[in-house]
Amino acid sequence: MGVVTNSKLAIVGAGAVGTSLAYAALIRGSAREIALYDMNAAKAEAEVLDLAHGTQFTGSSTVSGGGDISAVDGANVVVITAGAKQNPGQSRLDLAGTNVEILRNLMPQLVERAPDAVFLLVTNPCDVLAAAAMKFSGLPANRVFSSGTVLDSSRLRWMLSERTGVATSSIHAYIVGEHGDSEFPLWSQSRIGPVPVREWRDSAGAAITEAELANIAGSVKTAAYKVIEGKGATNYAIGLSGARIVEAILSDEGAVLPVSSVLTDYHGVSGVALSVPSIVNSTGVASVLNVDFDAHELEMFHRSAQALHESSVALGLA
Ligand SMILES: NC(=O)c1ccc[n+]([C@@H]2O[C@H](COP(=O)([O-])OP(=O)(O)OC[C@H]3O[C@@H](n4cnc5c(N)ncnc54)[C@H](O)[C@@H]3O)[C@@H](O)[C@H]2O)c1
Repeated sequence: MGVVTNSKLAIVGAGAVGTSLAYAALIRGSAREIALYDMNAAKAEAEVLDLAHGTQFTGSSTVSGGGDISAVDGANVVVITAGAKQNPGQSRLDLAGTNVEILRNLMPQLVERAPDAVFLLVTNPCDVLAAAAMKFSGLPANRVFSSGTVLDSSRLRWMLSERTGVATSSIHAYIVGEHGDSEFPLWSQSRIGPVPVREWRDSAGAAITEAELANIAGSVKTAAYKVIEGKGATNYAIGLSGARIVEAILSDEGAVLPVSSVLTDYHGVSGVALSVPSIVNSTGVASVLNVDFDAHELEMFHRSAQALHESSVALGLA
């Protein structure tokens, strides 16, 4: 569809994540029009008012919506954040059953109201739900995908930035695989500026040790649990991540982002949605990048695919 002018972003679910995404999108000017829909009408209307009251200080975006699904009508991008949320100590896969049923009901209605939209799943477990949404909508894999490990990769870059003193924007590193317990960093392709991460030396000449890399990978994986334990939800960083993906779509950017779409023979993996570096433009996932994985990364990737496949079977989706 090319660059979208007068673009409309619809956000389904006006909870912690949906409203943070709306707030980030408003401030960043990600879309011309932002519409929120939530089955809790009073909450959605209150959130819309609160956001609208600040629009003097944002760009030219407008905010509307409430408890009527017509809020989604004609949207160019629909972001789905509706669903039950992860409780302290609960794994993302535990949430799956409830959220699959919500999607089974929602997707056909959303496609009818926004037939040309690109659909972005944020609700967890987002990889399973991307595949489920594809199935329930009948849309191709490029038009229904999830935020995947965009947030996890941002966490990784922040941690590497803290370690090296190099700006996050100059760190090129990706978490790939499941957005969840089997995710892992693609260290073989990670760079601090142009320097491969394993060749990096700090001002004292010290390398980042394998133990440090393992520690960083572990911290990224458990980051959400830590935040949820302290404040009950993660919302700001996912709000920013979602707004960034929306911009890549509406501005037809061709940005490389580790979103999660249903793969076809990617390193031998087919039929499950996993995050890999992907080119995102106005068609959604324009393509996935063929990136070399080392032997350990290939093993981890196949383990992630197996975890996703098992949960798809358990949910009757495979
Ligand atoms: N993918 C990621 O990186 C990521 C990061 C953080 C959170 N999440 C996920 O995002 C989801 C939302 O989290 P939250 O903290 O905003 O939860 P929340 O409980 O604050 O908000 C969820 C909202 O969805 C609404 N809702 C539920 N069913 C609905 C339906 N059928 N139609 C319309 N609205 C409906 C609820 O009324 C509620 O307002 C969770 O699944 C969470 O795990 C994903």
